[in-house]
Amino acid sequence: MKKEEYIKSIEKLNLYSKHYYVLDDPITTDEVYDKLYHEVVEYEVEHPTEVLDNSPTQRVGDVVSEGFTKEPHLSRMWSLEDIFDKEGLEKWLIKTYKLDKNITFYCEPKYDGASLNLVYENGKLVKGITRGDGTVGELITQNVRTINSIPLEIEHKESIEIRGEVVIFKDEFEKINKERLKNGEQLFANPRNAAAGSLRQLDSSITAERNLVFLPYGVGVDSLPQKRLHKKMEYIYSLGFRRPPERAVCQNIDEIESIYKQMVHDRESYTMMLDGMVIKVDEIASQIDMGYTVKVPRFAVAYKFPAVEKITTIKDIVLQVGRTGAVTPVAIVEPTDIDGVVVERATLHNFDEIQRKDIRLNDKVIILRSGDVIPKIIKVLTHERDGSEKMFPKPTHCPVCQSELLQEDVLIKCQNLECEARVVNSIIYFASKPCLNIDGLGVKIVELLFSSGMVKSVVDLFDLTLEKLLTLEGFKEKKAQNLLDSIEKAKGKEYWRFLNALGIEHIGEVASKTLAERFGFAFIDASREDIITCDGIGEEMAESVLEFVRVNRETILKLQEILEPQEPIQKEEAKENPFKGKTVVLTGTMSESRGAIKEMLERLGAKVSGSVSKKTDFLIYGDDAGSKYDKAMGLGVICISDNEMKEML
Ligand code: IVH
Repeated sequence: MKKEEYIKSIEKLNLYSKHYYVLDDPITTDEVYDKLYHEVVEYEVEHPTEVLDNSPTQRVGDVVSEGFTKEPHLSRMWSLEDIFDKEGLEKWLIKTYKLDKNITFYCEPKYDGASLNLVYENGKLVKGITRGDGTVGELITQNVRTINSIPLEIEHKESIEIRGEVVIFKDEFEKINKERLKNGEQLFANPRNAAAGSLRQLDSSITAERNLVFLPYGVGVDSLPQKRLHKKMEYIYSLGFRRPPERAVCQNIDEIESIYKQMVHDRESYTMMLDGMVIKVDEIASQIDMGYTVKVPRFAVAYKFPAVEKITTIKDIVLQVGRTGAVTPVAIVEPTDIDGVVVERATLHNFDEIQRKDIRLNDKVIILRSGDVIPKIIKVLTHERDGSEKMFPKPTHCPVCQSELLQEDVLIKCQNLECEARVVNSIIYFASKPCLNIDGLGVKIVELLFSSGMVKSVVDLFDLTLEKLLTLEGFKEKKAQNLLDSIEKAKGKEYWRFLNALGIEHIGEVASKTLAERFGFAFIDASREDIITCDGIGEEMAESVLEFVRVNRETILKLQEILEPQEPIQKEEAKENPFKGKTVVLTGTMSESRGAIKEMLERLGAKVSGSVSKKTDFLIYGDDAGSKYDKAMGLGVICISDNEMKEML
């Protein structure tokens, strides 16, 4: 590689990574990126004195710094006054209109993360500073450079402070905590703590691993000419920063209320946690006139969302035995309304977690309910203890079958394959919607079938007869026949449902589909090497499949004979391309028929879906795109025109 090539390669890599991290719009494959990256590394090893500051290799921090240096902000970082309801909003508006009648408002999400100040000079990122006390923060430039949605260079050459919030997306947060749980590490309470903790790591390679995301919300020292805030922000986004998932310029209280309601409604579908909406006067001149109180700006306010964290008391801890034998403790809490849902149970994950958090019966705790995940206890209020709290001992025997429990990593497991809880739960799972979808096999009936001795495993379901069922309490002819009919309907279903129904640990719906498509009936003889080359299937999953097949080969074959699932038609693998494996939605009038475009995308390995959701990777639009386009924009889905799609190919 020559020097010019090196410089070009860096530009290319930076463009790729901007599309990947900031625009959520990859324009190349990982493979291409990695190869070019590798060539750049090689060049840099040979020419260590020529390494450019904006090289992507300089993002991965691996130097351990000695604590952080204090660093003053060029201009103060303010906090915000909070309001909680329409009445609060009315009062704030009256107060604000008194200062200036002719104003409009810019509304954007209030992100729940850690605030960060970025200083750019001559278009280069020179400092990243935490908020600290608002006047002086900590210099964490090294860590900040590892955040991919922060451009290391921008087009704007005058000095500027760009302020925003560093967040961790909800799915990433769950992933980190799952990993920490497995390694027996302390869990992060919520995405905000995880973001703040990750930002202030002495070892910036840890920061780099955490997939932090920066969302800009304003400027400090301001060298921008725009007279309206929304224009200023638009300019900042155009420099290569992420846009908010939703924003609006509002003229009056009704418009403000309406966007607020919209954001509250959409809140769960956002990738990041929000704790409110920030309302800011849009006219910069009016902002300057209004100025600040000792603590907060007069021209902005935080309109908070209903809280997702509440305090409650642990009334009891019950033990659940799952189909894998894992015994999980669940807290029964004083019923508490969180954002419209009454929460009565919260997961305690495992016993290490109970010990680590020192959770006791009758303790006051903070619980978090966010989105569709199970509520969890994030903090014990030990200072509220009055002596009535009781420790909860780790069980030594299965609460259902009384056999001895064994510790496997962080889990305690019942080893008895015939334990009622294990069998009953595996039958319920076998019959559930994403498996064989058998109606009529609810908890009560499965328990009855088990206790009568008729069904000791899923295979026994297929030996049930009318005569046998009629001996059971509560079974008349019609009910018995219905059950037999629905069990019969489990036959001849798609093969992935069959695989999913086996209940192999770590193998869910997605992995079952992958395995079914890749191997068909040859699944049972798939080798380790073949399994791990499947998309999305790692070492642990492969081991789990192999172990399951080793132990249950006979049962699998027998079930397959009984159920006669359909073998999927094996598809040829599509070549690498930006749409492979992605979920795509089409909308509007395109240059070719939509059917033709759908067919082409499917040949490229994309899944073309009819409606936009969080799971959509791309929305491809033609002329006159309507509500699907708006929804996709709202959800932060990448929207590209059909021409752009063709260019990407
Ligand atoms: S504006 C001059 N906008 O909330 C106004 N802050 O409670 C200063 N925050 O320290 C702040 N999202 O860390 C603003 N869209 C947003 C925000 C936001 C999150 C945080 C920020 C600030 C805190 C104030």
